[in-house]
Amino acid sequence: MTDKSTAGRRQRTVNGTRVAWVTGAGKGIGRALALELARRGVTVAVSARTEADLETLAAEHPRLHPFPVDVTDEAAMAATAEAIRRDLGEVDLAVFNAGTHKPVDGRTFSAQPFRTLMEVNVMGVIHGLAAVVPRMVARRAGHVAIMGSVSGYRGLPTAAAYGASKAALNNMAEALKPELESCGVSVSIINPGFVRTPLTDRNDFHMPFLVEPEYAAEKIVRGLEAKRFEIAFPFRMAVFMKLAKVLPQGLYFALTRRMVRHR
Ligand SMILES: NC(=O)c1ccc[n+]([C@@H]2O[C@H](COP(=O)([O-])OP(=O)(O)OC[C@H]3O[C@@H](n4cnc5c(N)ncnc54)[C@H](OP(=O)(O)O)[C@@H]3O)[C@@H](O)[C@H]2O)c1
Repeated sequence: MTDKSTAGRRQRTVNGTRVAWVTGAGKGIGRALALELARRGVTVAVSARTEADLETLAAEHPRLHPFPVDVTDEAAMAATAEAIRRDLGEVDLAVFNAGTHKPVDGRTFSAQPFRTLMEVNVMGVIHGLAAVVPRMVARRAGHVAIMGSVSGYRGLPTAAAYGASKAALNNMAEALKPELESCGVSVSIINPGFVRTPLTDRNDFHMPFLVEPEYAAEKIVRGLEAKRFEIAFPFRMAVFMKLAKVLPQGLYFALTRRMVRHR
């Protein structure tokens, strides 16, 4: 059963948010988050490159509206933000979630995975921020949320490009928070552990504390409602990775050396 029949009944709003924009909403965490926001009464513009995914999603709830875009295209992101404003209204909440992963084998080092991940994960978010922040600052209202990862806390084998992209986002969010807050704009960084999605379905290793996208969506919405700066989950993974963050390097490398796959 789709949610069309229940639309309008569950009306818990998210801090009065009327219009939200979620990128990377065609699959995985973004999809579940867009649905959760729509169920709480938010009108949601959903973006990804694959239009069919967005159409299928929009069929699940009348408050979901497809705005296909590639986040690596700065002009297209600006035009999409404008189209959302025109069609749905001012964006109150933007969740820049689109991202991808490519493992890096340090022993056959090449620039390509870094270029791809920096383009999508970092520049994709920056294009989104450039498209919405100036108007939010002018209105002295709004909330931007950036999808990071606990893998941005410290370097992990095979995640040299992914971790670096997520570390960049964590640093950027911290840098932006005080300035934007002083203009009435809230900033959040979302740092999940492992979530079962098409992205992690590709992993051939054990993923500790793996959670479902619906769990992630619920945690994210609660964090956004509380206007929390960092939204990290699941709790056990977040604590484990935060402890790893403060381990002395010698001890940390003793652990990560064991994660290296020998050929
Ligand atoms: N799953 C996890 O365990 C986990 C943990 C920590 C952080 N994260 C982060 O959470 C975010 C979502 O991950 P996920 O696991 O839900 O991934 P996913 O299942 O692969 O979904 C990613 C979504 O992003 C879209 N996307 C990818 N490249 C894009 C581009 N260039 N322009 C526009 N949209 C693009 C994809 O659609 P199209 O391909 O159709 O564009 C898809 O809808 C990512 O930033 C990821 O790094 C995930």
